[in-house]
Amino acid sequence: MMTAHDYPSAMFCERAELDVVLVGDSLAMVALGYESTNQVTLDEMLHHCRAVARGAKTPFLIGDLPFGTYETSAEHALRSSIRMVQDGRMEAVKLEGGHELAPTIRKITSVGIPVLAHIGLTPQRAASLGGFRVQGKTADRALRLIDDALAVADAGAFAVVLEAIPEAVATEITKRVGIPTIGIGAGAGCSGQVLVALDALGVYDRLSPKFCKTYGEVGKMSTDALAAYVKDVRERKFPESGKHTYPMAKGEEDKFA
Ligand code: KIV
Ligand code: NA
Repeated sequence: MMTAHDYPSAMFCERAELDVVLVGDSLAMVALGYESTNQVTLDEMLHHCRAVARGAKTPFLIGDLPFGTYETSAEHALRSSIRMVQDGRMEAVKLEGGHELAPTIRKITSVGIPVLAHIGLTPQRAASLGGFRVQGKTADRALRLIDDALAVADAGAFAVVLEAIPEAVATEITKRVGIPTIGIGAGAGCSGQVLVALDALGVYDRLSPKFCKTYGEVGKMSTDALAAYVKDVRERKFPESGKHTYPMAKGEEDKFA
């Protein structure tokens, strides 16, 4: 699984044969420059979801329900999920939380919208987690994560994202829970893996999380390419006459000059 946020990134996921594409609310920070994921609205998410749906035809498509669109009631969550499917062209939704969201997951899945749960480091709750930090490091906390995973599975979630939790804990959850686990910073014991595309592609040179492996240098390549363009234009090396230009109709140039 990989996150995508627009038409080209979705197209790359399609070509690279990703099984699942997630339009994560992480796009708030990595694609829109917001300070926090909690600033992105459902309408903004839908705009990106539609673009991704146009670019990725084969992968299973999941839309992340942004902060404030599913917490107040199961009915509100269902309305937001229906919009994800109807207006966003997504096939499933994701939400952050454990046992406390079991009734909500039941409600959404009852009408045939698959739900991906997300536990561990849940960025929408970063403030109450003390920031972006590893979750479930103590046995007591790890047991609570296992309970959360079992609760979301029991409520009907088709899979669960495990973010930033110790490898041993994620492996144990994967053994015990009857649904696939998708890890991000949770080790190879999970059923599958997810990364944020812009992180995996090396778009930013700022420190990315420890768990992220960078598979490209897109940030550097883009900056270098644009700098080469600026240099060419300033030195009048681009455009090249004949190569990047159009001729007038035959015989017309003389009359004109
Ligand atoms: O928003 C996001 O990209 C996510 C994934 C990292 C799971 O929630
Ligand atoms: Na997210």
